[in-house]
Parts: sequence; structure tokens; C-alpha cells
Amino acid sequence: MAVSGFIARRPVDADFAVLAQMRRDSRLQNETLYVPEDTADAAIRAWMTAAESCVRVVADAEDQAIGFAEVWSVPDTRKAHGRVAILSGRRGQGAGTAALAAVIDVATELGMASLLAEMTPDNSAARGLHLRHGFREVGVLDCHFRDTSGLWRDVLVMQRPLGLSSGRRP
Ligand SMILES: CC(C)(COP(=O)(O)OP(=O)(O)OC[C@H]1O[C@@H](n2cnc3c(N)ncnc32)[C@H](O)[C@@H]1OP(=O)(O)O)[C@@H](O)C(=O)NCCC(=O)NCCS
Repeated sequence: MAVSGFIARRPVDADFAVLAQMRRDSRLQNETLYVPEDTADAAIRAWMTAAESCVRVVADAEDQAIGFAEVWSVPDTRKAHGRVAILSGRRGQGAGTAALAAVIDVATELGMASLLAEMTPDNSAARGLHLRHGFREVGVLDCHFRDTSGLWRDVLVMQRPLGLSSGRRP
């Protein structure tokens, strides 16, 4: 899908260098609250194509990868987690909005009833982005993420319904 000059699409081989750079970036790992165990080339290629995590590349008008969106479901529920990340030099131009729109589209296509997102409470860019796109703040988990320097960080949990709720199934 396209949002203001950016598209979100499935990853291709040509995206590998940018995605690998982002996956290995400790600052981005701390912002997205995920430190991959393995960042060797093979592990990154496996992540790009893994069925359990739906990865979408956010690309600019020249079809260059500048970020990614990721969705993975919570087993035995209709809840999914979303994660978005844009290269630091390409932020503030709408790419994050395109990434979040892709997360919402993918989770909806998967038949999910709600989406979860996690960030540190001081991440005002991510917090604002999610609030403007229908997420509400659920609460803060104390000392829930250990960052790359070994510091335990609080985690803000946000949730967005996808309009597919039925009955009491989670
Ligand atoms: C969050 C992130 C994806 C936003 O990407 P982006 O390309 O800057 O997003 P956009 O350009 O679409 O901007 C989205 C909104 O955030 C606002 N924004 C951008 N940077 C901001 C900042 N530092 N503080 C507050 N708001 C900010 C923009 O003004 C825009 O507002 P609008 O919707 O009213 O126009 C990006 O900052 C990022 O990759 N952060 C690191 C990873 C991360 O934190 N992911 C979220 C947790 S999984």
C-alpha cells in the first residue's frame, strides 16, 4: 500500500543491506525493544521471509528500502504485535505513517481482532504516531526490556482494535 510517496511491500533481495544495517543497529534495537539473538546474514534473510513474522519493507519513491514494518501474532489469540522502524535520516516525512498503515493492513488481513505495540514511555515520536492512528495506552510494564547496555527499561503497551471483535475470544 502507498502513503504519501512511500510504499510498503514484501522484502526482496535488494533490500538486504538496509534491513541488515537496521537489524544490527543497537540504537534501533533499543528503540524497537528487540535485540535479535543472531544477526548473521542467514538469520537476517530468514527473518525477512519468515512466515510467523510478516515483514514489510517501507520504500521511497525510488523503491529504496528506508524502513520496515513487522507483525507477529500471539499464539491462540486474535491479537498481533506490530513493530515499525524508519532509518534515522529518513524520519519525519511520513514513512513511519506508511509503516504503521502496513502493520494495520497486515494484521487485518490475518484476521486479527486487535493490535499491540510496545515502546519506551519517552519515545514521543512512536507514542504520538500510534495515538494518532487509533491506539490507546494500556499501561506501563516496569523494567520489562533490557537494553543493549544492560539497563532495564519500562515499557509502554498500546492497543488498537481492528473492528473484527466477536464474542469473548481474545
Ligand atoms: C516512530 C517512527 C517509526 C516514526 O517514523 P517517521 O518516519 O518519523 O514518522 P512520520 O514521518 O510518519 O511521522 C509521524 C508523526 O510523528 C511526528 N513526529 C516525528 N518525529 C517526532 C518526534 N521526535 N517527537 C514527536 N513527534 C514526532 C510527526 O510530526 C508526525 O506527526 P503527524 O502524524 O501529526 O504528521 C520513527 O521515529 C522510528 O523509526 N523510531 C525508532 C523505532 C521506534 O521507535 N519504533 C516504535 C516502537 S516499535
